[in-house]
Amino acid sequence: MKLAVVGGGSTYTPELIDGFARLRDTLPIEELVLVDPAADRLELVGGLARRIFAKQGHPGRIVTTSDVDAGVADADAVLLQLRVGGQAARNQDETWPLECGCVGQETTGAGGLAKALRTVPVVLDIAERVRRTNPNAWIIDFTNPVGIVTRALLQAGHKAVGLCNVAIGFQRKFAKLLDVAPGDVHLDHVGLNHLTWETGVRLGGPGGDDLLPKLLAEHGDAVAADLRMPREIVDRLGVVPSYYLRYFYQHDAVVEELKTKPSRAAEVAEMERELLKMYGDPTLDEKPELLAKRGGAFYSEAAVDLAASLLGNGGSPYQVVNTVNNGTLPFLPDDAVIEVQATVDGKGAKPLSVPKLDPLYAGLIANVTGYEDLALQAALHGGRDRVFKALLAHPLVGQYTYAEQLTDRLIAHNREHLAWA
Ligand code: G6P
Ligand code: MN
Repeated sequence: MKLAVVGGGSTYTPELIDGFARLRDTLPIEELVLVDPAADRLELVGGLARRIFAKQGHPGRIVTTSDVDAGVADADAVLLQLRVGGQAARNQDETWPLECGCVGQETTGAGGLAKALRTVPVVLDIAERVRRTNPNAWIIDFTNPVGIVTRALLQAGHKAVGLCNVAIGFQRKFAKLLDVAPGDVHLDHVGLNHLTWETGVRLGGPGGDDLLPKLLAEHGDAVAADLRMPREIVDRLGVVPSYYLRYFYQHDAVVEELKTKPSRAAEVAEMERELLKMYGDPTLDEKPELLAKRGGAFYSEAAVDLAASLLGNGGSPYQVVNTVNNGTLPFLPDDAVIEVQATVDGKGAKPLSVPKLDPLYAGLIANVTGYEDLALQAALHGGRDRVFKALLAHPLVGQYTYAEQLTDRLIAHNREHLAWA
């Protein structure tokens, strides 16, 4: 089995490698290619990756290259985890929306639109190269904004599934609080990428007892603290929103908070400098503690699980993925991409059915789906008007004047990444 990771020079990669090493029985990788245009980072990350494999006795070969075509050639699956413009572009996304009183975030709101516009054309180009060398290869997309990027891939006819670690993070956290094995926690997880709610926490599987009321009664404070939301919000909803719902439910307060502190991109850039220094140490042969301060916890386990199922090697019976709606949420277009529990096999992901959703969630999901559709149009075809319409449709922007101002800022800050601007 050959796997390629595009964006393999990411400081996240050792998390992935650690998972590949530990879970090698689930995903027997013979060759792993790390592809990245940043040759210096790639060598540092590749070196550590090889030492992690060696220490854990993984027989797989790790290859590094800056050549996408060579890297993805004949891969059975290609993992996309790239960031166009790096942390510098992210820093912009997190900053200029604040000037208009809008949240500055890398996937939510105006910043997320900027990221989509930079990213979709690059990802589609890579996917084309993958398809040319191996039309059967699966693409696993961890590249944000995952919902929009996955929709772009699927609309272009690629074999793709989108992946995020929010659900597996909840699964692990809830399992610990409830003192059960992680595999025994089945989440009723519904929504769009970075816009989801856990409406049930079932024991054993989809039909199991719902432990959510018990979880909230006994551990409500811990759950809310993790979301950085007041417990009251969680209690009132009676379901667990993802921490990205903070940007909606507490928008103005979050904007004020973001204005007073360094951006997450700046924090991450600082961490990355330190991490890369560590990766260069030839005696380091495991993922360093510091990596836990990044947001990617359990990403590797979710990725191994998904790749194993797509490549016909087992994997968990139910997995939370981003895939095409096809009637699962009947209030959305069939071609929308949703994030829900699914069964996964060599043919792809098939969502489990979702009970009728409270309008409290369905309304917001429908609204953001409309935005995502317009965002994808803007990413594919460019043009100031398309950017403006996507922003006007976004529930966190909405007003004409803000949409106008944010459109100008978005284009001004991203000109070098937008072919049409
Ligand atoms: C979570 C999200 C990812 C996101 C990451 C950011 O893992 O699910 O989509 O990329 O957080 O983490 P960072 O450490 O870069 O802020
Ligand atoms: Mn995510």
